[in-house]
Order: sequence, then structure tokens, then C-alpha cells
Amino acid sequence: MAILKIARMGHPVLAEVAQPVPDPRAPEIRRLVNDMVETMIDANGAGLAAPQVHVPLRVVVFQAPGSRSDPGLDEEERYDHTAPLTVLINPEITVLEPALEGGWEGCLSVPGLRGFVERPAHVRYRGFDLEGKLIERTARGFHARVVQHEVDHLDGRLYPSRMDDLSKLIFESEARHFA
Ligand code: NI
Repeated sequence: MAILKIARMGHPVLAEVAQPVPDPRAPEIRRLVNDMVETMIDANGAGLAAPQVHVPLRVVVFQAPGSRSDPGLDEEERYDHTAPLTVLINPEITVLEPALEGGWEGCLSVPGLRGFVERPAHVRYRGFDLEGKLIERTARGFHARVVQHEVDHLDGRLYPSRMDDLSKLIFESEARHFA
């Protein structure tokens, strides 16, 4: 296992369309995922996509802990809003409701900044795990946001390009003014 160097906004690897993984069960994919998880946890991120560690393949890891989702939901809704540590290989997202929801995002490739981004609030996603098994889930809230943010990385997009009001692209240290 190793902590990998994270590419920052402006590096060309972040603007590429990443390639599909031919075999999710390949040992080099398992090594990559182990290193991505270690790197994400070390950097205190909620998600990481392979291009962010200079590997242009369609692999993401993320988690949506319960504490980050909205309080006051019933059990079924809460599950929708949270996700355990998840590996998705060759992911695809389907928007279930086009209504947008705004939320603050950060990105390990855009260190020190936060941006207010509107995205579809309810999605379904599918992809493969390291055993080649299909994972299929619906997601809302922070869970829906993080998976869309990570899959955007695979298509060469960073969250500032999803923003339409750049007055809400701010330094983390100023976030208290927007609370
Ligand atoms: Ni990111």
C-alpha cells in the first residue's frame, strides 16, 4: 500500500476522458484501489477518482457517512443518503429526478476551496466491484452528490465547471460567511 501523489487542477490528466477497465478483477486494479483508499483516507477526502492519482482509468472510491447526511430521515431514506466505503469500476449514472439540489463541494485536486454546486438530487448508479460483481444502488443527498462528483472526474470535469455562480467559489477558511 502507498499514499499516492494527487494531481491538482491544471494537470492534463484531470481533463482527460478516462478509459474503461477491461478486467475489474485484475491484480493491478486491486493494488490501485488499495492505494486510492489509503490516499483518500490520508487526505481526509470523501471520494477519489483514479485520474486524480494520475491513472486515466474508470475507477472511483467514495464513502457517504451517516453523519454527513440530513437528520430526521426514516431508516429507508437514511440508507439512500449514506454509503459504506465503495469501489466502483466502470460506473454509470442514471438521473432519476431531474430536479437539482445545491450543496457545497470540495475536491482533493482543488485544495483549499469550496464551491456551491447544483446537481440532480436523486440518481441510480451501477458499476463493478473488485470481484467483478455488479453494484447497483439509488442515492440521494450527499451520497448522490459524491458519486456524481467522482464520476465527473472520469469524464475530465472538475466541480467548478458545474457551477453557474462563481461568487460561491470560496476559500474554505471563509466558509463561515456562508453558513
Ligand atoms: Ni474531486
